[in-house]
Amino acid sequence: MQPVVALRRALTSNDIAYEMNRRGLDARLVQLHQQVDSTNRVALDLADAHVIPWTTVVAIEQTDGRGRLDRDWTSPPGRGLLMSVVLDPAQVKTPEQLSLAPLTIGLAVAATCRELSVPATVKWPNDVVIDAPESTMGFRKLAGILLERRAGVPVAGIGLNLSNSATERPVEHATSLLLERPELADEVSAAAVLASVIANVIDRCAKNPVEIAAEYRELCSTIGQRVRIVRPDGEDIVGLADDIDDDGHLLVETVGGLLTITSGDVVTLRPA
Ligand code: BTN
Repeated sequence: MQPVVALRRALTSNDIAYEMNRRGLDARLVQLHQQVDSTNRVALDLADAHVIPWTTVVAIEQTDGRGRLDRDWTSPPGRGLLMSVVLDPAQVKTPEQLSLAPLTIGLAVAATCRELSVPATVKWPNDVVIDAPESTMGFRKLAGILLERRAGVPVAGIGLNLSNSATERPVEHATSLLLERPELADEVSAAAVLASVIANVIDRCAKNPVEIAAEYRELCSTIGQRVRIVRPDGEDIVGLADDIDDDGHLLVETVGGLLTITSGDVVTLRPA
């Protein structure tokens, strides 16, 4: 049965089966939960049990959603796409494949947003955003990616804000597909967005590292910005984000020379 097209309607198994089949994808790959602690936690357990690649855990609500750098990921029930995809370990095993994996998933999510005429870009390393140079942060965040691994099997956790209203945003600089394009309310269902993300993840994961790095450079809003990098060890680096190398690392021009940044949080600085 064809789904009712409404972005604020809760995900249902029927809608998911319809949208997966429409894209030639096996609907049995998707496990829908009403409530879990974290879809990443569930998917990592499945990865440990060697489920087939592209098995996807999706939930209407998470009680303990995890973000990067030990942060929480909060999303009002039914307003966000909360999903974790078990990736193919054969495609993510070399150091360069591992460092590019979160960027690859970011490109897949951005591609889904762009299919819906929402002009998403990627913010290094793990965010999908809308550029907003006039705002304090310089961007509005649509989605975040959390890559975790168990027993050598990578899991891509994706939190994409679908239908949050302005008062339902977890933080002020968050946005949602619906806030960016209100027409989407009656044009697309959450299940259609889910199936599109899965299709784009499968497509991008099949590309080679050079192709991914090239696509990332094209879509990356961080390049060309003056940035402060907050490193996991607390050290701050200030400079001009110059490029992304073929391993997905950020190259930053500093007063001390060109630095290769492998991890950290990027704060965009306003021009002096
Ligand atoms: C970030 O921006 O810090 C990454 C956020 C990742 C959130 C998603 S929601 C679905 C999946 N399950 C989790 O517990 N986290 C990821």
